[in-house]
Amino acid sequence: MTTSKAASYDYLIKLLLIGDSGVGKSCLLLRFSDDSFTPSFITTIGIDFKIKTIELDGKRIKLQIWDTAAYYRGAMGILLVYDVTDEKSFNNIRNWIRNIEQNASEGVNKILIGNKCDMTDKKVVDTEKGKQLAAEYGIRFMETSAKTNINVEESFVSLARDIKKRLIDSAEEQKPKTNIELSKGTRKGFSSCC
Ligand code: GTP
Repeated sequence: MTTSKAASYDYLIKLLLIGDSGVGKSCLLLRFSDDSFTPSFITTIGIDFKIKTIELDGKRIKLQIWDTAAYYRGAMGILLVYDVTDEKSFNNIRNWIRNIEQNASEGVNKILIGNKCDMTDKKVVDTEKGKQLAAEYGIRFMETSAKTNINVEESFVSLARDIKKRLIDSAEEQKPKTNIELSKGTRKGFSSCC
């Protein structure tokens, strides 16, 4: 995962957006990566991903985000999305979680997202219900709006932070002390000549 000096990032994290058709996965992705919103219905055709680089604790983290369930392999984090105005999409989250258990890597980080929270008059899934479901699976929960830009960045960043903790920080803590000393020494040696 660590890259060469020439690369513009320190780590690459692969994320996946999962949920029923029409819940707003493409719009969330577009909002996060381009800070824009397309009101027309853009049904996802084929495999596509977007890239966004963020900074966490002084490290540049390149997020590669896919919005299709066809790309479970290699996903380190999954945003499970339902539509707060569509009860069926909420009930289906349990099926999506089963699907993840069967297809994704073990220990993949997850966050539950109740999207379209701007549509308060049409809301049928209470915030409390979302919270409870997330608590049952021991995952984070956020209500978002891709349309009015509520909690979109926060959702992606908190998931990335959890992944960084699980994969990167813990790996660095586990490095034997002698190795750290060695790499420090090596780097020092290099800096005198480069
Ligand atoms: P598939 O590609 O078919 O899986 O759908 P999707 O989950 O990617 O949904 P998409 O992003 O295409 O959005 C579906 C519809 O919901 C579009 O008409 C969007 O304009 C609308 N939409 C998405 N997010 C929001 C939101 O936060 N608020 C409101 N009011 N509408 C939204």
